[in-house]
Amino acid sequence: MRLSTLSSLLLPFFVFSLLQTSTFAIKKSYIVYLGEHTHGVNPTSVDLDHATNSHYELLASLVGSSNEIAKEKIFYSYTRNINGFAAILDDEEAAKIAKHPNVVSVFLNKGRKLHTTRSWDFLRLEKDGVIPSGSLWKKSRFGADTIIGNLDTGVWPESRSFSDEGMGPIPSRWRGYCQHDTDDGVRCNRKLIGARYFNKGYSAFVGGKLNDTFKTARDHEGHGTHTLSTAGGNFVPEASVFGHGNGTAKGGSPQARVAAYKVCWPPVNGNQCFDADIMAAFDAAISDGVDVLSVSLGGDPSEFFEDGLSVGAFHAVKKGISVVSSAGNSGPSPGTVSNVSPWMFTIGASTLDREFSSYVELGDNKHLKGASLASVALSSRTFYPLISAEKVKVANTSAADTILCLPGTLDPKKVMGKIIVCLRGINARTDKGKQALLAGAVGMILANDKNSGNEVLADPHLLPATHINFTDGATVFAYINSAKNPTAYITPVKTELGIKPAPFMASFSSRGPNLIEPSILKPDITAPGVSIIAAFTESVGPTEDKSDKRRIPFTSQSGTSMSCPHVSGIVGLLKSLHPDWSPAAVKSAIMTSAKTRDNTAKPMLDSSNKRATPFAYGAGHVRPNRAMDPGLVYDLTVDDYLNFLCARGYNQRMMRLFSDKPHACPKSYNVADFNYPSISVPQHSGSTTISRKVKNVGPPGTYKAHVRSPAGVTVSVNPSSLTFKKSGEEKKFEVTFKSKSNVQPAGYAFGHLTWSDGHHHVRSPLVVEHK
Ligand SMILES: *[C@@H]1O[C@H](CO)[C@@H](O)[C@H](O)[C@H]1NC(C)=O
Ligand SMILES: *[C@@H]1O[C@H](CO)[C@@H](O)[C@H](O)[C@H]1NC(C)=O
Ligand SMILES: *[C@@H]1O[C@H](CO)[C@@H](O)[C@H](O)[C@H]1NC(C)=O
Ligand SMILES: *[C@@H]1O[C@H](CO)[C@@H](O)[C@H](O)[C@H]1NC(C)=O
Repeated sequence: MRLSTLSSLLLPFFVFSLLQTSTFAIKKSYIVYLGEHTHGVNPTSVDLDHATNSHYELLASLVGSSNEIAKEKIFYSYTRNINGFAAILDDEEAAKIAKHPNVVSVFLNKGRKLHTTRSWDFLRLEKDGVIPSGSLWKKSRFGADTIIGNLDTGVWPESRSFSDEGMGPIPSRWRGYCQHDTDDGVRCNRKLIGARYFNKGYSAFVGGKLNDTFKTARDHEGHGTHTLSTAGGNFVPEASVFGHGNGTAKGGSPQARVAAYKVCWPPVNGNQCFDADIMAAFDAAISDGVDVLSVSLGGDPSEFFEDGLSVGAFHAVKKGISVVSSAGNSGPSPGTVSNVSPWMFTIGASTLDREFSSYVELGDNKHLKGASLASVALSSRTFYPLISAEKVKVANTSAADTILCLPGTLDPKKVMGKIIVCLRGINARTDKGKQALLAGAVGMILANDKNSGNEVLADPHLLPATHINFTDGATVFAYINSAKNPTAYITPVKTELGIKPAPFMASFSSRGPNLIEPSILKPDITAPGVSIIAAFTESVGPTEDKSDKRRIPFTSQSGTSMSCPHVSGIVGLLKSLHPDWSPAAVKSAIMTSAKTRDNTAKPMLDSSNKRATPFAYGAGHVRPNRAMDPGLVYDLTVDDYLNFLCARGYNQRMMRLFSDKPHACPKSYNVADFNYPSISVPQHSGSTTISRKVKNVGPPGTYKAHVRSPAGVTVSVNPSSLTFKKSGEEKKFEVTFKSKSNVQPAGYAFGHLTWSDGHHHVRSPLVVEHK
């Protein structure tokens, strides 16, 4: 349940229902968000104390207690950048606080998930190669001295990706540090310049005190090491996964400094990262002096100020810090995208043109290509008996569970010595391999279900195993059903390059439309997130299963968690090259220079093999070298964000809470006019006009508008030509959408608008929803 001042109309009913159920006054952890502090950007310790005391006083006055009791209830006081606190409250208290005029929102300390496919699918590997080693690296000096912070599971400081060999002194503006409170703590070096942990929100959720294993920023999970090294890891030669994909590992900004903010802990019911901790980490990172924050986690889409990540990102972006986040792994269903605030940079995931291939050879001579990063191969080059998992069930289970190779479903008597076919879904992909191995299988073929389509993932399996697509899976099942004695062989893993088509969208990547604010298209862009090799913890094996005794410094993972830090690294490069660009300008440069075609020059495909849409890839696939010289940008100032909030229904009084100076809401301002680099028109009928402005960041020149109209509308741009005499000049234009006939079939249509001076192509996706 969430409370918000936005839903104040509903509040009386809300409170009524709360009162009815609050006989037990169950206490939960809540976040009370108060907006902006009145102290400036450099608060003194007196200011900070004053902020904390104001939180005690506010809570005490509202719940009718002493300051002492209020102090006991509050476990975080956000005093530096974010104004607010986290406290243990009952529902009645929370509802009462939400009504106070100085309170922006009150929301539950919700749990968030890391955005790998691991939680429902699991790990696998691949390589990192998609970021071109071209000129942006050189021009930006490999992101030298940009500081990238990462909110995640911490860091494995001994990883070679975080070696400080050859790095100069730490930039003097840095105010962060490494927490080394226990033997398990993390020490800084000139590369890894910060490592802090935030666990009070987790503690409040699980209840009870945490022991010393929770007092370190050290990564015992692997996810944070992987994402941080993808964003800013150093060059590490001869990195491989069991010898596969041998090459130089590198982050997007190899010369950047990095800082880990550990906010994710061992999962409780799938949730591992809590809003109260996420907000504390944002508040700290902003003051520490990061330039970029990479956040590969999220929850269900929620209202902008009832989501700790969105609140934290709002304050970061207001201070000029770019916040890059993952779109989520709940695809391919529509409306699943999370981290949907307009101040966040939201990243989908797609494939690379490299595969770790391991083929299935069937007894009838068919060869099917699969993906694997298994650490072992079959012992002899012979055909082994092949069986579907469905046929090897123990008495106390169902065929539906057995085909998935869930724990305790496979009968060793029927499996021993065979290659077993398991279906994707429910348990981790590598766990299916583990179950097959425990039951005595010599190998496993992992077949996609219909939803996961043609997306196959190379995983660090414990036994010879390969992952095949849905159509090939059907071929295998048909062969098993028709052959008298079905047999198969699985070839050893080999690395293949130049795979076509690539990229295509990963099925897991969360899809638009944006359910919170449909006029902001999300995700913003896509980047590689399938089978990505990066640094790993040496605390657990690559399957993260206790029984996995293998330890490897690099592994492959997949998810929007992996695509997000690719973009964080690229943002780091652009910040080094253009230190004066705002987060919105950086984002615009990356979005308007993206491509929507794959390496066969055809439109990018979805995992279903159909043409992908902006609901999957936003503006398209990231192209770092183009992003450094975009020509024009759709820039945004803090006032634009405030106007956006006005249009979202926050009134003048609320504006005072978001800004340390008064902000007058414009008389007429439509959310659709927010100067976003993509254009989305929800609920269109008849005629709709929206406005935008572009800023020249290149040489003087004349840009002409080129439109590809979405089906069912004609689009006109006015003026259709813009002349810029100098850099920094800004020009406005309007885009009008007119329905071609009165009746359009309901649904979405896609097109694009491109401004071009012949050299630069500034492209924005157009999305129209016919009402
Ligand atoms: C710390 O607490 C966790 C979770 O309650 C537990 O799994 C772990 O064994 C404890 N570790 C120590 C050293 O007590
Ligand atoms: C990786 O490649 C390097 C140089 O090409 C070679 O010396 C090394 O043995 C290779 N490592 C593995 C694990 O294949
Ligand atoms: C499945 O994989 C095979 C390679 O074994 C490929 O030829 C086929 O096109 C793929 N199917 C789809 C739907 O992508
Ligand atoms: C079936 O029973 C066995 C033996 O009691 C047990 O180990 C296994 O977990 C059970 N399987 C299921 C799916 O309940």
